[in-house]
Amino acid sequence: MSFNIAIDGPAGAGKSTIAKKLAKKISFIYVDTGAMYRAMGYYFLQHGIKAEEEEKIKEVCDDISVALAYENGVQKVLLNGEDISDKIRQEEVGNMASATSGYGFVRAKLLSLQQDMAAQHNVIMDGRDIGTCVLPNAQLKIFLTASVEVRAKRRYDELVAKGEQCDLAEIEKDISERDYRDMHREIAPLKAAEDAVMLDSSDLNIDEVVEAIYEQAKKAG
Ligand code: C5P
Repeated sequence: MSFNIAIDGPAGAGKSTIAKKLAKKISFIYVDTGAMYRAMGYYFLQHGIKAEEEEKIKEVCDDISVALAYENGVQKVLLNGEDISDKIRQEEVGNMASATSGYGFVRAKLLSLQQDMAAQHNVIMDGRDIGTCVLPNAQLKIFLTASVEVRAKRRYDELVAKGEQCDLAEIEKDISERDYRDMHREIAPLKAAEDAVMLDSSDLNIDEVVEAIYEQAKKAG
C-alpha cells in the first residue's frame, strides 16, 4: 500500500516549496494539485472564457486533458499534451484557477487523477482539500499556515527575484480574496481535516518546516 502525505493550507504558506524538498528527501512523488487547477484556468483564459460563464466552462471541460509528467523528479504540467509548467505561474492564472475551482465539474475532473496517483505511488500531495476530500485516509495530514502579511511578502520576494514588477499591497489583497473564496465555497472548501497536524510557518524557515513534517512522517510511518 502506498504512503500518502497530504499538505493543505492557504495560498503562499510555502506548501509547494516544502513539499518538493521533503519529497526529494524521502524519495516520494510530489503532486501539486494547484497546478492542475491552474492548467484549467490557463485554458479558460486562453479561450477568452470568463470565470462566471459556468455553462461555457462546463462545455469545454470535455476538451481539456490535464496530466502530470516527471522528468528527473521534476513535475511538469501538461495541458492537452503541451508543457505549460512555466505559463501557469502568473497571478492572473492563479486568480482564474481560484475563481473556477468552486465548480463541481472542474473539481470532479481532477479528483480521480489525484486519487489514482496517490493509490499507485508514495506521494506528498498539496492543495486545499487533500486531507478532507481527496485523500481522507492519508497516513499524515498537515495544515500549513502563515499570516497573510508573511505570505504576501514571500510571494512578492519570489516575483521580484524573477524580475517581475509587482505591488505588495495588491498581492496581499489578491491573497486575502483568494483565501476567502477558497474557504467559503460550497464544494471542498479550504479547511483543516480533523486529524491534521497544524503548523504555522510564519516564524520558521523552509528547512525547519521540512524537518517538522519529516518528524511527523516518521511517527506516522
Ligand atoms: O496552490 P495554488 O495557488 O497553485 O492553487 C491555485 C488555486 O487552485 C487555489 O486558489 C484554489 O482555488 C485551487 N485549488 C483547489 N484545490 C486544490 C488545489 C488548488 O481548489 N486542491
